[in-house]
Amino acid sequence: MKVFKTSKSLVSHLSSQSRPLGFVPTMGALHDGHLSLINKALEQNHSVLISIFINPTQFDNQTDLENYPTHFEADLQKIEKINGNISVYLPKAFDIYGQNIQSKSFDLGGLDGIMEGEKRSGHFQGVATVVSYFLNTFQPEKAYFGEKDFQQLRIVNHITQSQKLKTKIVSCPIVREKDGLAMSSRNALLTETERKFAPKLYESLCYAKKNAKHIQYGQLKDCINDFFKKYDLLTLDYFRITNAATLKEIDLEKPVSKGRAFIAAHLGKIRLIDNMDMS
Ligand code: PAJ
Repeated sequence: MKVFKTSKSLVSHLSSQSRPLGFVPTMGALHDGHLSLINKALEQNHSVLISIFINPTQFDNQTDLENYPTHFEADLQKIEKINGNISVYLPKAFDIYGQNIQSKSFDLGGLDGIMEGEKRSGHFQGVATVVSYFLNTFQPEKAYFGEKDFQQLRIVNHITQSQKLKTKIVSCPIVREKDGLAMSSRNALLTETERKFAPKLYESLCYAKKNAKHIQYGQLKDCINDFFKKYDLLTLDYFRITNAATLKEIDLEKPVSKGRAFIAAHLGKIRLIDNMDMS
């Protein structure tokens, strides 16, 4: 493992590494979800680049940014244990943004106006800015993104197509805890009591999948709302089933034959998201 703090030194190093290069962007606090992306990248490439960068422009809330878990030393120790030709990019914001820590403006084809984009203003412009910087600067053959952030995955696909980037985006399934909770760096911020209620998001997605074909989507939405009202600690932010490609909400009066369900909920001060294929 070699660690680089500047893109200049990293680009120079990568020029001597064997290709294909697989790229795994992360914000650190690495867990088994991240490691599944890294392992897939190692299987499919000769060299792997992992970035660890808490991208300030994708946070719409200063407190969320300040509270985001940072475990850079532990992250590097985890990566060190993995066999393979791995480079790590661990920059400061200046290396990517210079003095001007601001998002660029991308046409994200309307994919950013709903769900996470609607709830977290400017979030996807920040993601698009940093991902576009990474892909243009390091030119990996493949880049690995988790379905845990399915809307982000769709947006990254959109950027690579519209900017005609040569990187192929590889999607990776959601890695879950034994009780179904989708792994997330934010889970570490939950209190013991909150952690007990966190699998309710997964439970409600399973309920939706089981019942989606039998009742109208509108009724299903009401059931999920009622389910969350039972728990004082949990506040549902949204539940939605959409076409997986366009992310457009499906017809309220029809049963769900296929599509993807998305859920976001507040658990104390922490906001959790999850999603599931309904077919
Ligand atoms: P981060 O939340 O650290 O996630 C990095 C990658 O790991 C993303 O592609 C995410 O979808 C994936 N991931 C997270 N939890 C997962 C899980 N339980 N199963 C499978 N994959 C999982 O997403 C970001 O960082 C940032 O927005 C980033 C793309 C790095 C841009 O700043």
